[in-house]
Amino acid sequence: MGALRARTVLLSGSNRGIGLGLVKQLLAAPKPPLWIFASCRDPEGPRAQELRDLASKHPNLVLLKLDVANPVSVTEAARIVERKMNGSGLNLLINNAAIYTPTASLAVVDAEDMMRTYETNTVGPMLMAQAFLPLLKKAAQESTEKGLSCSKAAIINISSVMGSIERTPATFLKPVISYRCSKADLTVETSVQGLLSVLPILSEKHNGTLLNWEGKAIPW
Ligand SMILES: NC(=O)c1ccc[n+]([C@@H]2O[C@H](COP(=O)([O-])OP(=O)(O)OC[C@H]3O[C@@H](n4cnc5c(N)ncnc54)[C@H](OP(=O)(O)O)[C@@H]3O)[C@@H](O)[C@H]2O)c1
Repeated sequence: MGALRARTVLLSGSNRGIGLGLVKQLLAAPKPPLWIFASCRDPEGPRAQELRDLASKHPNLVLLKLDVANPVSVTEAARIVERKMNGSGLNLLINNAAIYTPTASLAVVDAEDMMRTYETNTVGPMLMAQAFLPLLKKAAQESTEKGLSCSKAAIINISSVMGSIERTPATFLKPVISYRCSKADLTVETSVQGLLSVLPILSEKHNGTLLNWEGKAIPW
């Protein structure tokens, strides 16, 4: 399987979990991207220490303050990236940031939690796609590649099997404790390795599909 050849990549929620794992493996790739924009809510705070340590060693890693649930923060971050790119485009936007409330069963979930989750997990990627679209289009115009690919210009939304309506009986009805345990089955490293081996094979035919970390289609 080929390696990801995107010259410029931007990720949300990259200070921990899968986002941080992606940054680490992208930096360690034989041909790392020219620029990795690793965004998080608080790049100056204690939760971004590991990211700052990486940035001090890797000049191609740019830390960016970005709260996906805050439209002003998203547009400000897009402006900073545009200035940094100095006329060049952005190849790959990875919408990774998300929140998950494990205790939210139908009996206890409230409007506030539902709205907060939608603001981050659904509206957030939409705001990101809108704000970075001009830079993605620019990258597509600069490229001589045919068709759609992550090395040309693409938006990847990191989703979950929990988003599959068809798989609901197999996921949602399980006690939450099982989900928590199942999350521990796949390490961040394995999950990120899988993601990074799937990204290079994506093309038009994958547009709008829900794929797992091994590139296998999950029904919507
Ligand atoms: N882990 C799994 O087993 C699994 C399975 C399926 C899908 N996924 C998906 O993979 C992605 C990453 O999951 P994860 O397990 O790495 O999650 P995680 O460890 O909980 O990390 C979530 C990241 O999102 C950030 N974030 C939350 N709200 C944000 C906002 N409003 N603006 C910007 N950043 C925000 C967090 O930043 P703070 O530090 O500031 O909170 C953190 O960096 C998610 O999209 C998740 O749905 C994960």
